[in-house]
Amino acid sequence: MIVTIDGVAASGKSSVSSGVAQALGVPYVSSGLLYRAVTLLGLEAGADLADPAALLPLLSGVRLEPLASGNRVWNDDHDLTADLHSTRVDGGVSTVAALPEIREWVDAQLRALPAPLVAEGRDMGTNVFPHAPHKFYLTASPRVRAERRARERPEDIPAIEAALTERDRQDTTQSAPAPDARIIDTGPLTLQGVIDTILNDLR
Ligand code: C5P
Repeated sequence: MIVTIDGVAASGKSSVSSGVAQALGVPYVSSGLLYRAVTLLGLEAGADLADPAALLPLLSGVRLEPLASGNRVWNDDHDLTADLHSTRVDGGVSTVAALPEIREWVDAQLRALPAPLVAEGRDMGTNVFPHAPHKFYLTASPRVRAERRARERPEDIPAIEAALTERDRQDTTQSAPAPDARIIDTGPLTLQGVIDTILNDLR
């Protein structure tokens, strides 16, 4: 069984997916973390983030560890996870995610993982696991998402909202909900409320 949970930036996908996966007793995978890892390694190497030929050679040691409590990304024996949510990575990741070669690399990592699992991202239900029997798509207004993210970032809410809106715009191509996804507006719901909505739907 595969459950896909897609949605816009900072819509709560990771926390919701982790909660759903733990309730089901299966792993979850965050595809965004892999795009973030490519971006971080590209930035650290001084590579052109729009050049797949400069990025692909950096990825041979990259591995996603799909723990139910929170995914980790490793580059050989170096844990990259703590550095993947910086403002710098946020600013470059959409450029990397627009590259078909990088999308193919991420998709191959994800499809190699054994089911059952909960897969979280933008195109899990449309592109990576189109035959998944259970699909969800999370939304919330830019202001609500910025307010939530402001608890994790040093910037103020208008700056975060502007950056999120810009990332949504850059991610439009891969972010359409699957036609058979249930769309959930997380704005009026608590985290547990979103998790329960999904679990009720799965029962
Ligand atoms: O989900 P998260 O916000 O961490 O994703 C970071 C970025 O990775 C997105 O803004 C998007 O550019 C890219 N992404 C993607 N497709 C996915 C998951 C993430 O293009 N399935």
